[in-house]
Amino acid sequence: MDKLLIEGGRRLAGEIAISGAKNAALPILCACLLTREPLVLDNVPALHDIGTMLKLLAQMGVKVEREGERVTLCAADLGEPVAPYELVKTMRASVLVLGPLVARCGEAKVSLPGGCAIGARPVDQHIKGLQAMGAEVNVDHGYVLAKSPRLKGARLFTDMVTVTGTENLMMAACLADGETVIENAAREPEVVDLAQCLISMGAQISGAGTDVIRIRGVASLHGAQHRIMPDRIETGTYLCAAAVTGGDVRLTGTSAGYLDSVVDKLMDAGCDITSEKSPSFEAIHIKAPSRLKAVSIRTAPYPAFPTDMQAQFMAINAVAEGTAIIRETIFENRFMHAVELQRLGADIRIDGNTAVVQGVARLQGATVMATDLRASASLIIAGLVAEGETIVDRIYHLDRGYEKIEQKFAALGANVRRAK
Ligand code: EPZ
Repeated sequence: MDKLLIEGGRRLAGEIAISGAKNAALPILCACLLTREPLVLDNVPALHDIGTMLKLLAQMGVKVEREGERVTLCAADLGEPVAPYELVKTMRASVLVLGPLVARCGEAKVSLPGGCAIGARPVDQHIKGLQAMGAEVNVDHGYVLAKSPRLKGARLFTDMVTVTGTENLMMAACLADGETVIENAAREPEVVDLAQCLISMGAQISGAGTDVIRIRGVASLHGAQHRIMPDRIETGTYLCAAAVTGGDVRLTGTSAGYLDSVVDKLMDAGCDITSEKSPSFEAIHIKAPSRLKAVSIRTAPYPAFPTDMQAQFMAINAVAEGTAIIRETIFENRFMHAVELQRLGADIRIDGNTAVVQGVARLQGATVMATDLRASASLIIAGLVAEGETIVDRIYHLDRGYEKIEQKFAALGANVRRAK
């Protein structure tokens, strides 16, 4: 099992490029199912989860071609509209084929994703929405079985803000008969990126980025070309790594525009952050103080502070000056990185969905275990400033969501290497 070895104490400096967004690419790959024509996608990151999704789509009969960051998908001739447990259990986002398959094929058999380390993560809202659009949906032997000769436009209201729930229902509504209104919709930039891709395919969508999205169904969609947006969580992760090491780092191919809440918190912590933007180029430059001030955070749906940045902020608060209160309101079990950070000497007390982090002067390197994608990132960030060597085990989690992570950290001067 791969592990990362990190020698702490290096200040990060230099420039790296940010990759395309995993959480935009995953739903957009599934959008290919909505048309018989080719969908050409650029800036697709080379990640394990992307590979899993491409394997799932190919298994359904989608023709997949990959040349570097460009992926061309053609769903002209689909086979069985089935997403088997063997694939879905390795990546919950596979549930994103459900809406497109029902809309395109009139039926779908998709394995229930099951829970993961950070929570139960049910898909009841995805199912409720499809039922409201006239689909007959049953859950049988661990599979969601959905059928509908043609979905009907409906007014949908999700009980909570759900990113992939909004995405699944928005894709299903594109080919429905009539208008669908999704209320309490997720406002994440990845939802907007998906909507922009669907619109380029001929979908009639308005309101993406707000909590009310209107989709007027059309008879069919056509092929298109779309460039995946930059990964704002990868961006935030490297900003935190630069911040905690007193670094001076420039991230290209990304924008602060999707990360206002994170940039605000890093500035409160004492960092100087500037954005560069021109029609053909964008970048973020961060200069950090020798020691950060503690900043409290409370996760919530976009545009509030993203839950996917919570673990990284727990790591930077572990060595900041002062005490930080971290509240996680999205997932019920997203503090597993806390016990690993405590092994490095962090002073963290957990009380339900609240963590109290008292900054310490120094962390001590140790062997720690990654439990989920963003927790893994927080352990690397902590390892960058821990005394001596930190070994992060089970880093297959990292490869799901961070492209070329040790190369990018090495390019910034970190002493990070992979070992078996
Ligand atoms: C997306 O997950 C992201 N994944 C997650 O990123 C991210 O943490 C999450 O949104 C929140 O921003 C992708 O986009 C592929 P939700 P998703 O549905 O859509 C509950 C990462 O690290 N809920 O917005 O699965 C759910 O349990 C990953 O890249 C229901 O109860 O999250 C959670 O408590 C981790 N029923 C809350 O809503 C449902 O039907 C928000 O979940 C759906 C969701």
